Amino acid sequence: MTDGRAASGRTPEDRSENPQPVGGGPRFAAALSPVSWDEMNDETRQAAVAGIGQTALVIRHGEPGDASAIAKLIVGENNRPADAAEIERYLASAPSVVAVVDGELVGMIYSRRFSPDILEWRNSLVAAAHRRARVGAQLVQAMEQQTRDAGYLAAIGVNCWKHAGTTKERASSARAFWHAMGWTIIFATDGSAVVAKHF
Ligand SMILES: CC(C)(COP(=O)(O)OP(=O)(O)OC[C@H]1O[C@@H](n2cnc3c(N)ncnc32)[C@H](O)[C@@H]1OP(=O)(O)O)[C@@H](O)C(=O)NCCC(=O)NCCS
Repeated sequence: MTDGRAASGRTPEDRSENPQPVGGGPRFAAALSPVSWDEMNDETRQAAVAGIGQTALVIRHGEPGDASAIAKLIVGENNRPADAAEIERYLASAPSVVAVVDGELVGMIYSRRFSPDILEWRNSLVAAAHRRARVGAQLVQAMEQQTRDAGYLAAIGVNCWKHAGTTKERASSARAFWHAMGWTIIFATDGSAVVAKHF
């Protein structure tokens, strides 16, 4: 998983034209590298779910049991404290997705209710070793589906370089990412950009 071009020879753009299911069906619903879920047989799907072999990346719903691994990821990648108990409450009460490679949690998005029809995406992160391989894009795609399935009409999030452990450069990269995902900055201060997407 380096340039996102898988053994199948397909590009990330090819994959994005073939979105994978997240809601319904198998509990672990998307395993996108190097072949799509639809292209797998029962054996390779089981391997994907277990995070075994070439089909190592699994995108699945987050669950409360992921809280400590997520907190560890935040501490390691963002150099700031993370409250596993608080994260567990988010995971138990609102949509979330995680990315798992070879059994290791390497990315996540979790959320909380902002209003009856708007979901606040609280935190989005991909481990540095897995960036620019479309992991974040697949997390967003899966999370947008979950957000819609949960009945929300829009989602918001905030990007702020003033968070502990963040830099202006890093915030700028994240803004480029959200722009690429089709999100819009709807409000900004010196430090923060509120990003949103209407579904
Ligand atoms: C932002 C983040 C989640 C992106 O995850 P990722 O897996 O690296 O992103 P992807 O590979 O899916 O990128 C998808 C597209 O976003 C854009 N993008 C991603 N990172 C970018 C960067 N550093 N600079 C410019 N564009 C970028 C590109 O258009 C990219 O498509 P391409 O690689 O085909 O050109 C990841 O960099 C991260 O965790 N950063 C630190 C934490 C953070 O800032 N979180 C967001 C808080 S608001």
